[in-house]
Amino acid sequence: MCGIVGYIGERDVPSILLVGLERLSYRGYDSSGIAVLDHNELSFWKKLGKLHALSDELGKLTIKGDIGIGHTRWATHGIPSEENAHPHLGPKKKVAVVHNGIIENYLILKEKLQKQGMLFRSETDTEVISHLIEFFLKDSLEDAIRNTIKELSGAFALAIISETEPDKIIVCRKGSPLIIGIGKNENFIASDINAIIPHTKQMIHLDDNEMAIIEKNKVTIKTFNGEIVNKEVQTITWDPVAAEKSGYDHFMLKEIYEQPTVVRNIISKLLVDGKFSFNHLKLSRQELNNVNRFIIQACGTSWHAGLVMKYLLEKYARVITDVDISSEFRYRHKVNGINEIVIALSQSGETADTLACLREAKSRFYKVLSFVNSKNSSMDRESDSVIYTYAGQEIGVASTKNFIAQLVSTYIFTLYLSQIRWTLTEEEIKAKLDELKKIPDYIEKILSETEKIKKIALKYHKCKSYLFIGRGVNYPSALEGSLKLKEISYIHATGYPAGELKHGPLALIDENMPVVCIAPEAETYEKMISNIEEVRARKGKTIVIATEGNTAIHHCADDVIYIPEVSEDLTPILAAIPMQLLAYYTAINLGCDVDQPRNLAKSVTVE
Ligand code: G6P
Repeated sequence: MCGIVGYIGERDVPSILLVGLERLSYRGYDSSGIAVLDHNELSFWKKLGKLHALSDELGKLTIKGDIGIGHTRWATHGIPSEENAHPHLGPKKKVAVVHNGIIENYLILKEKLQKQGMLFRSETDTEVISHLIEFFLKDSLEDAIRNTIKELSGAFALAIISETEPDKIIVCRKGSPLIIGIGKNENFIASDINAIIPHTKQMIHLDDNEMAIIEKNKVTIKTFNGEIVNKEVQTITWDPVAAEKSGYDHFMLKEIYEQPTVVRNIISKLLVDGKFSFNHLKLSRQELNNVNRFIIQACGTSWHAGLVMKYLLEKYARVITDVDISSEFRYRHKVNGINEIVIALSQSGETADTLACLREAKSRFYKVLSFVNSKNSSMDRESDSVIYTYAGQEIGVASTKNFIAQLVSTYIFTLYLSQIRWTLTEEEIKAKLDELKKIPDYIEKILSETEKIKKIALKYHKCKSYLFIGRGVNYPSALEGSLKLKEISYIHATGYPAGELKHGPLALIDENMPVVCIAPEAETYEKMISNIEEVRARKGKTIVIATEGNTAIHHCADDVIYIPEVSEDLTPILAAIPMQLLAYYTAINLGCDVDQPRNLAKSVTVE
């Protein structure tokens, strides 16, 4: 989703901005632009499409200046185009603004400004901001921005430069992330740490309703009301090398292959000397023992991990569990019960809908426990309790290793809860943990069969539609398998509970429809076989994910992918791997941009 970067200092401004934008490109974008101030002269460049269009253009020029802002846009209001790309300028082109978020009342504001005779150059919501700032701009840029903010409803992270005060960038945050990077004789701003980490590891996180005045040697943070805020400078300990492809063609493939290591890492963090270790879990044993209901809310792949978690929480910890898609949770008229805990699952910790629900839940006195991958993200900072998923930085838009990390961390948490609530014996817990420890080796085994999955991907890549079916804990697996495929290959795919086929989707089946059937050894295995037969009877092509050693499955499968034998609860972890590879190689066969699929964003910071 949209990215912001900014720089003030003595280095080459366009280069710093372009490197930052490149490092934000994994989030998804359709156009880009920068604005640079040379003394009190403002210049700007915008391009539609990939970043190289902008860098090619800038490469032909000699640009002077020591202050600039840049943006990658992911269209919400107005088509992807040069006019709609950021930065947006005021009517007199004195002020340039880049914006992440959505201004919900922009139409009303636009109409008012048009009545004052102001002309607009784009269809965006953002342009009202640059116009309002110039409208209010008299003596002080800061005052003009403060007056502008009062008019805006919605979410925003803003970075603003102005010809009238060419020694500063002013940034504001309400609802969308913004970070300040502190350097020596230079400072940076970004919507995502990744953009500026090659230059500095000293960061300040802006909170909602705060603005910052960034000069070369000074950063002043204030509330929107003008009170000075003293904030801690944090040192980021990440290794930027993690963001390289390390010889893989795509980040997605690299991340798929990292999964055994990710699982080993989580196990070593959450199980220390054979004991559960949840350092950031601030919920007491008593609170966990007394919990009457969990309400899980998440989006996308994280929601699928939440669905798996529900099965396990109910089966082992014996706690009633609801799962909501965040954008639904927020507007559902829930009834508050006693001893209920809201669980948020999020890789980025910044997804706007999930974050809004977290805040809504807190305002309604729920305790919130979040499973988050990105440390220091908004959800990390705002949740009552956090369990990190330790997947490492995930760049591919289609989530892979973090899904597995969510499944593993929620599984370990469920066992911990079952221990506290006495719903499993110590022996049962130990046996389950011992089995979990074998998962990294099993994933490696599946990855060693990649060539076979490549062939299956090639065989079906021209099909227009796919169906994925599973039962029980593998119904969410079917949803996740279909999401992976459609996200990166643009093939229509639907995940369905296998038992529901006869209530509709069976009508779609013919000889052109591949159906991925997740059928490991499980409580409902026989029922699943009947569903596969139903597909076969209508000439559908069946790609069956089955347990190693099940040779009988060949009689109802066009293609078989084996996964090692594990208990049913762990099969979603193993079943996900071949489906990730199937999606990846299908997308490659179709020539799709795997890491940055069209229209999608890694971190969705608008509602
Ligand atoms: C976007 C990403 C998905 C992700 C979802 C939720 O749609 O493309 O991969 O699953 O957001 O993101 P979160 O960071 O909250 O897990």
